[in-house]
Amino acid sequence: MIIGVPKEVKSNENRVGLTPNGAGVLAKKGHLVIVEKSAGSGSGFSDEEYINAGALIVADASKVYNDAEVIVKVKEPIKNEYKYLMEKHVIFTYLHLAADKRLVEELLLKKVTSLGYETVQLENGYLPLLAPMSEIAGRMAVQTGAMLLQKNYGGSGVLLSGVPGVVAGEVLILGGGTVGKNAAKIAIGLGARVTVVDVDALKLRELEDVFGSAIDTIIYNTHSVIECIRRADLMIGAVLVPGGAAPKIITEDMVKAMKNGSVIVDVAIDQGGCIETIDRVTTYDKPAYIKHGVLHCSISNIPGAVPKTSTLALEAATLPYILEICQKGIEGALKGNSALLKGLNTCRGKLTCRAVADTFDLEYTDAMTAVEDAF
Ligand SMILES: NC(=O)c1ccc[n+]([C@@H]2O[C@H](COP(=O)([O-])OP(=O)(O)OC[C@H]3O[C@@H](n4cnc5c(N)ncnc54)[C@H](O)[C@@H]3O)[C@@H](O)[C@H]2O)c1
Repeated sequence: MIIGVPKEVKSNENRVGLTPNGAGVLAKKGHLVIVEKSAGSGSGFSDEEYINAGALIVADASKVYNDAEVIVKVKEPIKNEYKYLMEKHVIFTYLHLAADKRLVEELLLKKVTSLGYETVQLENGYLPLLAPMSEIAGRMAVQTGAMLLQKNYGGSGVLLSGVPGVVAGEVLILGGGTVGKNAAKIAIGLGARVTVVDVDALKLRELEDVFGSAIDTIIYNTHSVIECIRRADLMIGAVLVPGGAAPKIITEDMVKAMKNGSVIVDVAIDQGGCIETIDRVTTYDKPAYIKHGVLHCSISNIPGAVPKTSTLALEAATLPYILEICQKGIEGALKGNSALLKGLNTCRGKLTCRAVADTFDLEYTDAMTAVEDAF
């Protein structure tokens, strides 16, 4: 199998889909790994390390896409990468299609077989390839939010930890899954007062078992959250309906009730965002905009800023699946691994992710049917 690793081009994206270690594992199994020049540099890996691991370095992205069958990336293809997409490609990357109709159309038009890391799902519902980046994004959300609260960034000037004699700041976390749990961990560590809301009582029970009285947990409904919203210095959006558009659980009126200079970090922006007033994607170059006196931060590639940690964490999760695709071929891998089959978003012109089909009112094809028709 020929595996291609292009350099990421999204703003402030320094991760890479495969490290020299991963390239070496594939090369030892007899596969050819083609890496775009300096693709690993943002994560601290030189071209020489890839060459020593048995990979081939090529000058540009077009060479990677032209020669490779399996494309291993980090972020979804963005507009200036569309020209490279071909029917022969199996693309394995984060896709977040429910937030990007244009990309759905492109993948269907080019008949690309695409698998989204974020929809690979085990029988028990766990999302093994989303979890490591959610762990990082949850932790970073507090770090970024704490920074934006500083007066010099436009925030209210609250120090989340407080100091002896002055109360700590309030952090409200919407969604108690992986992002929410990791945000809670860091916020508690800072000494902030933390509340987590979720619709799933089991999730809240688990969090209380872990964090005890260091957090408050509340079942989400519009009445239960409003008091927390009024008090919050930092609100973190961390809800997910796997594959689907994020539900807008915080309305514009609720945002208006927030304190002046308070901060929202909507981590769920990659699925469209869970807060009504989040109307754009921001980047680390200009992380926040102000609406109703509240700073809104909606960076869709939060882990991209800590690539030395996140590239390693991502590859640890993805490499067994990449290896399976390369060893068994895409048809064998999809038929033999139900988690990977759930990751299939498009297959030779058919849309195989129901949540995305529902979001855009497009025709849905069952993943196994699409695989049997295609290969
Ligand atoms: N911006 C980034 O860089 C980045 C990085 C990693 C993950 N994410 C995103 O963060 C989001 C959360 O990911 P996760 O791994 O924590 O997901 P998760 O599935 O572990 O947790 C999501 C939680 O949201 C809860 N939820 C669903 N609907 C709800 C509702 N209406 N009200 C309240 N709670 C609700 C679920 O019960 C669940 O506990 C996803 O959109 C994911 O793609 C973004």
